[in-house]
Amino acid sequence: MTCSIPVLVITNRKGGAGKTTTSVNLAAEFVNAGERVLLVDLDSQGHCAVGLGVKIAAGQATVHDIFNAPSFRLVDAICKTEIDNLSLLPANQNFQHHNSGNDEKCLARALSDETITSQFDLIIIDTPPSLDNLLLNALSAAHWVLVPYIPHPLSFEGVRQLVRVLFKVISKDNTKLKILGFLPVMTASNVRQHRQVTEQVTKQFGALRVLNGIRMDIKLAEAFAVGKPVRFYAPKSRGAEDFAELTSTLIQLIKK
Ligand SMILES: Nc1ncnc2c1ncn2[C@@H]1O[C@H](COP(=O)(O)OP(=O)(O)O)[C@@H](O)[C@H]1O
Ligand SMILES: [Mg+2]
Repeated sequence: MTCSIPVLVITNRKGGAGKTTTSVNLAAEFVNAGERVLLVDLDSQGHCAVGLGVKIAAGQATVHDIFNAPSFRLVDAICKTEIDNLSLLPANQNFQHHNSGNDEKCLARALSDETITSQFDLIIIDTPPSLDNLLLNALSAAHWVLVPYIPHPLSFEGVRQLVRVLFKVISKDNTKLKILGFLPVMTASNVRQHRQVTEQVTKQFGALRVLNGIRMDIKLAEAFAVGKPVRFYAPKSRGAEDFAELTSTLIQLIKK
């Protein structure tokens, strides 16, 4: 079962690869383009709430509740953010990954509920840096997967391993899943190594897409720290420019 509205998963099994920065800023850009967006934070670090300046109270309902109580309705965990048309399904910071069970379709079922699909046009899922049932749930629920990566030689092997998992999920669990692209982040085009890794990724996944990257920009980190997407914090920055351009590319690809 896949959701009747597009679901985009942002993943890379490495921590610090730009997943949450990409999730929060893409969510804000898609809202700016007129979409009603639900951002789902599957990473129990709970950083999406931080990046959006949303306070989560102890004991508040979270997306992780579906793994403990199958009858839990996700709609009851949705929080509004300061941005109109952008809502958050927050993470439970006390969630233990070994409690995510064996059912990899739990999230797909919960997101397909009409109480959710009728309120939104797009769902973006931020994922933990792990290869476990939480990630399988995200991939099983999705139509699209976007892989941010830092163009560093060490990250190449990680991307390769992830792609193996993606192809397995596509052939076995979710034939609707497509790879939207690989997104180099924190790039500096004048660094030779960055170019080499991106060339390697392009060569390896030639048929797939390496997107225009997100340049290194301290404004992205600062915006995150004050709980705002970069388009509100520093609208003229490189980071804001790159995320706006990325979003127009992705809108074309998703609509094709
Ligand atoms: N393009 C960028 N330029 C500068 N800093 C960045 C950029 N993208 C992400 N960061 C910073 O890098 C760190 C890791 O990014 P994050 O999105 O949290 O990664 P992940 O979610 O994969 O762990 C954060 O401190 C973030 O602010
Ligand atoms: Mg993160």
